[in-house]
Amino acid sequence: MSSSALAPPRHVAIVMDGNGRWAKKRFLPRFFGHKAGVDALVKVVQACIDRDIEHLTVFAFSSENWKRPSDEVSGLMGLVLAAVSRYLAKMGAMGVRIRIVGDRDAVSDKLRNAWNEAESTTAHNTKLTLNVAFNYGGRWDIVQACKKALAAGVKPEDMSEAKLSEFMAMSYAPDPDLFIRTGGEVRISNFLLWQVAYTEFVFSDCLWPEFGERELDAAIAAFHERDRRFGGVKDAPVAA
Ligand code: FPP
Repeated sequence: MSSSALAPPRHVAIVMDGNGRWAKKRFLPRFFGHKAGVDALVKVVQACIDRDIEHLTVFAFSSENWKRPSDEVSGLMGLVLAAVSRYLAKMGAMGVRIRIVGDRDAVSDKLRNAWNEAESTTAHNTKLTLNVAFNYGGRWDIVQACKKALAAGVKPEDMSEAKLSEFMAMSYAPDPDLFIRTGGEVRISNFLLWQVAYTEFVFSDCLWPEFGERELDAAIAAFHERDRRFGGVKDAPVAA
């Protein structure tokens, strides 16, 4: 358990960047970086449970990652399949609920079946929800929410931020409190665009496979230093 008495962020979102560079530093193919990235993720999931974090959302494969060399794309798909079969029981025992967010149409039947199995066998778990963003893009999410709202017959006069939120892929979760990106880049890369309106951002130079409890605690400590005003002002005079 974290030593901090401050409330933990309820929802942490992570861009797990730097796998390729981690492998390159070791003269290994990029695939090995992604493999080490899965191991890092499993440790971070446990660390989040220990810190009473309710939702962890990770960017595992973006809508744009299809542009990578085909052997890296197929390597990532195979890795994810292998990770599901290797870690599903462990995640279940840890009390993790797995939910997939993203466009499932473009993935193979095999992967889609693995996602469905991961979701259904962990659906009753309550310790932590691990939202795996896969074939996900923030713009895709906004567009699919608009399409669903239109299909549901929402009229222009009834449309609002709250109404559209109901159709976003993670409508079941609170917006992220803390967004972490590892690997030294300082950008969102089309991750949760709609949901990060008031999220606190922490950018770490640490390469994802090296990210662990210490780095998570540093990010949470930075989060606790922030003065979250949600567009308001602190100590505003109370109206008479
Ligand atoms: C970014 O590093 C990382 C990715 C595109 C893939 C991350 C995916 C995993 C860790 C696997 C997740 C698996 C499951 C089952 C959830 P990069 O390749 O862009 O690194 P670089 O910037 O150093 O090249």
